[in-house]
Amino acid sequence: MWLSFRNKDKKVFSPKGIDLERLPRHIAIIMDGNGRWAKKRGLPRTMGHRAGVEAIREVVKTCSNLGVEVLTVYAFSTENWRRPKDEVGILMRLLTEYLRAELNELHGNNVKIMTMGDLTLLPLEAQKELSRATKQTEHNTGLILNLALNYGGRAEVTRALRILGEEIQQGKLAPEEINEERISSSLFTVGLPDPDLLIRTSGEMRLSNFMLWQLAYTEIVITEQLWPDFTPETLLDAIKTYQLRERRFGGINKE
Ligand code: IPE
Ligand code: IPE
Ligand code: MG
Repeated sequence: MWLSFRNKDKKVFSPKGIDLERLPRHIAIIMDGNGRWAKKRGLPRTMGHRAGVEAIREVVKTCSNLGVEVLTVYAFSTENWRRPKDEVGILMRLLTEYLRAELNELHGNNVKIMTMGDLTLLPLEAQKELSRATKQTEHNTGLILNLALNYGGRAEVTRALRILGEEIQQGKLAPEEINEERISSSLFTVGLPDPDLLIRTSGEMRLSNFMLWQLAYTEIVITEQLWPDFTPETLLDAIKTYQLRERRFGGINKE
């Protein structure tokens, strides 16, 4: 079992002065910079992706140990199909390998694996491993590890509109019954809280079509570190930054 930051008496060990009572419930990460990491070392981009998987392992473990409820990682976007076929192939193979290697340990640590995105376009091997992983862990009550695969925010909203459109066509829904809750529950993230903290690595200041609806009031932390260099330490720094922010949600400061 992984080490926990809380002991049996619910006493907490605060790593880095982090307040464990005020953790982000949902952390979303745009894992970027694998290619640049490899280039800096004169390696092929694929080696960067391999190194990136190691970073994921550590971050998942840290989130689980802290008691974060949901960790969403952007692993493959609807636009990433534009990359060379070989690179796409390696990314898919790494996904399959990751699941094969990690499933038992994740399951043993009560992690629940979920996905968002249209999986039907992934290679069959990957689909099989994903379905095994989600089924095996579906009743787990610990960290939810949400993998964004062939995911795009616009595709997700488009899909939601189709779902609602069909309900209207079948007479199950009136247009005036469409509200924010209904839209939220037609997204892949149904039932999950919106991300409190979004982290993007490698210094890029854009969303790249990630969780466009859900990020409306998310705190954003951009780090210059390239994804394979991202460590639990970096994650704790980002959480600390998050805890110093004042979230107003359009309101005003409480004096
Ligand atoms: C992120 O690293 C991994 C994926 C998008 C799957 P990149 O491959 O985008 O790395 P850079 O941005 O080219 O450095
Ligand atoms: C975003 O990174 C997608 C993932 C991390 C999976 P990209 O590297 O694809 O984003 P852009 O192209 O730089 O915006
Ligand atoms: Mg990139």
